[in-house]
Amino acid sequence: MLKIIHHGHSAFEIKSESHNILIDPFITGNPKAKINAAELKPDFILLSHAHSDHFGDTIDIAKNNDALVIAVHELAEYLSSVGVKSHGMGIGGQREFPFGKVKFTIAHHSSSIESNQLYMGEPSGIILNIEGKCLYHAGDTSLFLDMKLIGDMNAIDHALLPIGDNYTMGIDDAVKAAEFLNCKNVSPMHYGTFPVIDTDPNEFKRKVESVGKKCIILPIGESVEI
Ligand code: NI
Ligand code: MN
Repeated sequence: MLKIIHHGHSAFEIKSESHNILIDPFITGNPKAKINAAELKPDFILLSHAHSDHFGDTIDIAKNNDALVIAVHELAEYLSSVGVKSHGMGIGGQREFPFGKVKFTIAHHSSSIESNQLYMGEPSGIILNIEGKCLYHAGDTSLFLDMKLIGDMNAIDHALLPIGDNYTMGIDDAVKAAEFLNCKNVSPMHYGTFPVIDTDPNEFKRKVESVGKKCIILPIGESVEI
């Protein structure tokens, strides 16, 4: 049994029997956040890309918990340079960690530290196989046809898809993504944090359920078990 807790925007905490994994921990500066970053106690952190609304509190949380950060090579190297334990991977590579397997996928977006335009490698999605369950966190991305390939190669139990538009897929593209991915269940993310990405998760739920997917909207602080 995996517990998936939404901490706002694209930040999720995955609790397995023995591990606590945090994805894209943007808490400080998120106007909708309901916890403090100091309350999070992961042993691993996964990053989809370096933008501040995903990188977020990574450095502080990682250092406070001696957590290993897993990210695309350039971002991992940057983290090492600031004293954070990191493991770098490339798109398409898979590796087994104590909690399960991680594979980075393509994502059509960008990845940099915006404040000084530092290039941070390619943006990514993340496939997690933990205790027999398969989870896909799409990161920030447009819709892309290779999601069909991701769906062919992975029996995805739960997909986390951005629906906020402007920077990522909007609602209709995310519905098509859920079809391409052939996932069982889906939850929307990356909406409502700021006015520019203020789309309606209930519209997404209605549309994606009309194509046969179960949609679980996770309000901030809420969780689902898969
Ligand atoms: Ni981004
Ligand atoms: Mn983003």
